[in-house]
Amino acid sequence: MSAFAALFFARLGRAGFYRALHAEAVARLGAGGGRTWLDVGCGPGLVARLAAERGWRARGLDLDPAMIARAGRLGGAGDLGFAVGSLDDLAPGSATVVSAASLLIGLADRRSAVAGLLSALTPDGVLLVVETTPAMRPAAAWARIRRGDLGRDAWLLLLWSLARRRARPVGVDDLAQPGFHLERTELLDGLAAAWALRRTQTPRRDPPSREDVEECHLKVA
Ligand SMILES: C[S@@+](CC[C@H](N)C(=O)[O-])C[C@H]1O[C@@H](n2cnc3c(N)ncnc32)[C@H](O)[C@@H]1O
Repeated sequence: MSAFAALFFARLGRAGFYRALHAEAVARLGAGGGRTWLDVGCGPGLVARLAAERGWRARGLDLDPAMIARAGRLGGAGDLGFAVGSLDDLAPGSATVVSAASLLIGLADRRSAVAGLLSALTPDGVLLVVETTPAMRPAAAWARIRRGDLGRDAWLLLLWSLARRRARPVGVDDLAQPGFHLERTELLDGLAAAWALRRTQTPRRDPPSREDVEECHLKVA
């Protein structure tokens, strides 16, 4: 099963519409300048590859060794690496961006998965979640295909929508966490969405109070 899934997601990752929607989500977080981007549930590595192309030190993590083997074979440009690992073992505060594309939809406890992903962020970090929306239905996919601009990869959009038929879409209830605000961007004409979670306040030192300054002066004197 996992070798088949790795083959399927590698093929999906080559489809123009799939690559474009993930490229748009990655581009919204800007150039990396060597900072760390951790893609969890990376599959064959599309998001990590796109991040490395934009100058991030991109690392992909996946439970499934077949996915990681395929990601390694596909390779890519820039500072890019893949490893077998679970979202339950993320190093705290280790990445400026943590991303999860089509990961949460398959998990039973999405809220604790989101809490785990957030724990890996640096204080000013961003969690990027990419998932299909409730609009991703076979009829809507078919309507999108009929616009005629998806080329020979169009059938993969229909297949993707069929695979989502029984899944409960990821939404605000799964993602909202105390101390973080959510920003949603529509992708692929609303069939998918990118969510960015950022701390409502970046932890910082409060400016010193008058008492602090006076105490400091007393100590120096
Ligand atoms: C639907 S695939 C998505 C692959 C890729 N992110 C994409 O968008 O094309 C979900 C991936 O999440 C991985 N996964 C599931 N649970 C995981 C966990 N607890 N920790 C790490 N990876 C996990 C699966 O092995 C699978 O490769």
